[in-house]
Amino acid sequence: MSARQAMPQASMTDAVVLVTGGASGIGRAIVDAVVAAGGRAIVWDVDAAGLSTCAGAHGARVTLARVDVADAGAVAAAMADLTPDWAPTHLVNNAGIIGRRMRLSEMDPAEIDRVLAVNLKSVLYGTRAFLERRRPHPGAAIVNLSSIAARTGGMPGNALYATTKGAVASLTIAAAKELAPEVRVNALAPGVIDTPIQDDVFGGDRGRVAEIARAIPLQRPGTAAEVAEAALWLLSPAAAYVTGTVLDIAGGR
Ligand SMILES: NC(=O)c1ccc[n+]([C@@H]2O[C@H](COP(=O)([O-])OP(=O)(O)OC[C@H]3O[C@@H](n4cnc5c(N)ncnc54)[C@H](O)[C@@H]3O)[C@@H](O)[C@H]2O)c1
Repeated sequence: MSARQAMPQASMTDAVVLVTGGASGIGRAIVDAVVAAGGRAIVWDVDAAGLSTCAGAHGARVTLARVDVADAGAVAAAMADLTPDWAPTHLVNNAGIIGRRMRLSEMDPAEIDRVLAVNLKSVLYGTRAFLERRRPHPGAAIVNLSSIAARTGGMPGNALYATTKGAVASLTIAAAKELAPEVRVNALAPGVIDTPIQDDVFGGDRGRVAEIARAIPLQRPGTAAEVAEAALWLLSPAAAYVTGTVLDIAGGR
């Protein structure tokens, strides 16, 4: 057996997982799952109220900061602010937005820049900062949030969103190759998951969500907790031989 094969895989109890967009929805569920598994979480978000609710739920198991992950300088500064005890061992690039619904003939350059920055550039900024500051860990891993929209093209008017999620999938595969064997990199591709972002997709039209749900083989939207279960698995030693994967969590859609 080689030295690498013999290396023990640490459990989540000594993991410090940086979760971007961790104040709501899927990100918050991932924070909850990490803490329940005995780990600690760094939570970055622009939503001050959501951050404070998360702090109240998890106390000393989390450290939180108001960070706009679309801003490279803010990401670098927030990473530099972490004390050595909070140097991250794992990263979840989760923050994302749908952006304004636009036809291709109406694409607004400022909105293109905003959605690319929040959904795609943030993954590059977060990954770079993580690699510079991370505490080496035998199970080091990154999970990125793509979407099945990367393959389906998304809902009408959401071409820009779908494009960013396709790029996140490509980046995941490239990063998995570049960072092996020290860091595993995988992505999740959720389908319709019941979180606040769905109000931006369907304009708060719950009837439309129910209609879409009928076309999903498992006949319902997924929950944030179900996506978090998959994220926790990809972060954990149980997925030690999994890298460069984009995993659908979409009820068979
Ligand atoms: N819910 C779904 O159906 C679904 C499907 C596919 C993919 N996803 C992806 O999952 C991820 C999480 O989405 P969600 O459903 O939990 O949505 P959500 O809106 O509940 O959560 C997104 C979080 O990201 C934060 N955020 C937004 N812009 C930010 C910025 N610039 N800097 C820091 N934080 C920022 C928000 O404040 C929010 O807390 C997103 O990347 C989304 O594209 C969601």
